[in-house]
Amino acid sequence: LADPDAPLGVFDSGLGGLTVVRALLEQNPQERIIYLGDTARVPYGTRSPETVIRYALRCASVLRARQIKGLVVACNTVSAVALDMLRVEFDLPVMGVIEPGARAALRAMRQRERSRPICPIGVLGTQGTVASGAYPRAVAQLSTRYEVRAQAAPLLVPLVEEGWVDGELPRLAVRRYLTPLIDAGVRIIVLGCTHYPLLKPVIEAVASELAQEPVAVVDSADATAEEVAHLLEARQLQRHAPTPANERLELMVTDLPASFQNAAERFLGSGVPQAIQIDLSVEE
Ligand code: DGL
Repeated sequence: LADPDAPLGVFDSGLGGLTVVRALLEQNPQERIIYLGDTARVPYGTRSPETVIRYALRCASVLRARQIKGLVVACNTVSAVALDMLRVEFDLPVMGVIEPGARAALRAMRQRERSRPICPIGVLGTQGTVASGAYPRAVAQLSTRYEVRAQAAPLLVPLVEEGWVDGELPRLAVRRYLTPLIDAGVRIIVLGCTHYPLLKPVIEAVASELAQEPVAVVDSADATAEEVAHLLEARQLQRHAPTPANERLELMVTDLPASFQNAAERFLGSGVPQAIQIDLSVEE
């Protein structure tokens, strides 16, 4: 039986999952988190489902060996193709980000419908996520009223990993990816990749400029954190004692930590622990 005082394990291909970590820390202030960014193998989004499944299995095994009480897959690409496998393989609560992302989109749609006509829901994601059809499926499971248009945006992950999140270059790339969505009438956009919230200001600005009206841009981080809180409560897995601030987060990466560390500090603020480099081929 899982120990409520054990940490939650969270992983992504790189630093994108930190967008989910930030929401988890905010909404679950007593919990401890061990984060793994597989920076040696980022990006996942351009790889085949078989490869992503293999990578996900390694990441999850390493976290499980750290005695986690639950696994948060802070990666849409992995959530799209490997969630069922992880649930079968690991005797742990496993949560993904796609269902929460779909729920966030529907919340935005209900808001919009109060004053404006219904529109298609746009999804920006990696090639793997878009090819899997996971978002249209997740939305259809919640409501069959809405059309979903997904657009792969493969250049955005390297831009974020590079820390290139404002200025002319990201604007041009974002413009190129958003144009077909906006032309199709999309006015609600789901960031279907956990890296993209770092580009949210650019995405919002370019979308609204192209549409010449406000476009709602939503991501799955808050909805995922809410879901994790409910699940821990339902399974009586909430941590009993509060965790001291300096023990709340542990960071692991699979390649040189320097650029990840800088981005983590920029994104999560000071007090971020030093990321430790691990080798997934020998860890267990
Ligand atoms: N951040 C991940 C996602 O949500 C993966 C990005 C990538 O590695 O391509 O899809």
